[in-house]
Amino acid sequence: MEKIVSLSKRRGFIFPSSEIYGGFGSCYDFGPLGVELKNNIKKSWWDEMIKKHDDIVGLDASILMNPKVWKASGHLTAGFADELVECKKCHRRFRLDETKGDPLSFICPECGGELTKPRKFNLMMKTFVGPLEDEASETYLRAETCQGVYTNFKNVMQTIRLKIPFGIAQIGKAFRNEINPKDFIYRTREFEQMEMQWFCEPKKAYKFFDFWLKQRLNWYYDLGINKKNLRTYEVPKKELAHYAKRAVDIEYKFPFGWQEIEGIHNRGDWDLSNHSKHSGEDLKYDPSANSGQAYFPHIIETSVGVDRSLFAFLCDAYQEVKGGRTKTTKSAKELEVFLKLHKSLAPVKAAVLPLVKNKAEIVKKAKHVYHTLKPHFMTQYDETGSIGRRYRRQDEIGTLFCITVDFDSLEKDDVTIRDRDTMKQERIKIKDLIECLKK
Ligand code: GAP
Repeated sequence: MEKIVSLSKRRGFIFPSSEIYGGFGSCYDFGPLGVELKNNIKKSWWDEMIKKHDDIVGLDASILMNPKVWKASGHLTAGFADELVECKKCHRRFRLDETKGDPLSFICPECGGELTKPRKFNLMMKTFVGPLEDEASETYLRAETCQGVYTNFKNVMQTIRLKIPFGIAQIGKAFRNEINPKDFIYRTREFEQMEMQWFCEPKKAYKFFDFWLKQRLNWYYDLGINKKNLRTYEVPKKELAHYAKRAVDIEYKFPFGWQEIEGIHNRGDWDLSNHSKHSGEDLKYDPSANSGQAYFPHIIETSVGVDRSLFAFLCDAYQEVKGGRTKTTKSAKELEVFLKLHKSLAPVKAAVLPLVKNKAEIVKKAKHVYHTLKPHFMTQYDETGSIGRRYRRQDEIGTLFCITVDFDSLEKDDVTIRDRDTMKQERIKIKDLIECLKK
């Protein structure tokens, strides 16, 4: 875990937020490589939902919503709350499920101090809209992106003329006042979700649940996640969220243990019926005009955190090779780190490396190759340090191909191209490089 956190910082994936002021709570910033990785994950998910399926459309609803939404959704009541205890000595707060032992003899897991009795703590993050900070201007930062989908259910269905079953996909920020954010970017107060809501006939919901669970597992497998590090967990009835009739978590084996990265939920008609009741808008679906058979569609939801899945992809890709992979560099005796990210996720696809930096013609040619590739692939140019060090630096961030411009390149107008995974090197004509990399 420490190694991954350190790599993330050192190589520009993830920085603590407001670091020059000592950081801020559990907030993190995604650096130049982190944002590429994040965008690649989001693109892969979006393509999976929108391009692969004929019957899913996208949406981008606002973060701020009428506070009545959160009353209707059940988020303002005890349903969306954690039980909290506080240490009387060190004043740290813990979720009840994080304290071990008999609930009547709690002791602080940090300092052994006495803990207070548990009390409910709502996770919604409050804010004010407008210049006056009074009750009338109070609202919340959304705690899940899906509520914007439910409030737009009719708009989307009518404008796109959709028939049930269909889905609405959305990616966006969500906020929760988590009592105990922890484990780097695993549990934070600001995070991003990729959610898809599938509206279907009530009697088909159970079948679709299994279908979507399978689809979602395949997404991770297709992106190269080690099958041994992924498992499913059927959430017991008594632990279900207030809206769920059934939930299965997809869990990843993080360095700190098995933890949820995605939830598949059967939300029944909880959302549409409650929004109908609270808003007065009829959100039933009528199979044909005035058929008298209108019903509230049931919802199967797939919900995954961008940050959490990114963390899982990083952990899964992280590899150390003792004694070095190249065996040819001076540093071959050291531990070499290698990020085996899937080709569609790797933040940098190609790095252009002049063999030496003190030969003007080589540098000029290398820069020409770099500018040729850059509009097509995320490409880096690197001339600092020995060629061996540069290969290692690129391996450490998961760059797919290292392209070296050497003395022969000046005569033959070609380069060597080194594959990250096989480390095989081939000579390729510069004019064929784009096609070769695309392939
Ligand atoms: N709309 C349903 C929903 O939000 P959830 O199980 O509370 O369900 C779904 O959250 C996913 O959102 C989680 O599996 C996780 O990937 C992500 N998530 C939830 N809370 C998070 C947090 N505090 N930090 C990072 N990701 C979080």
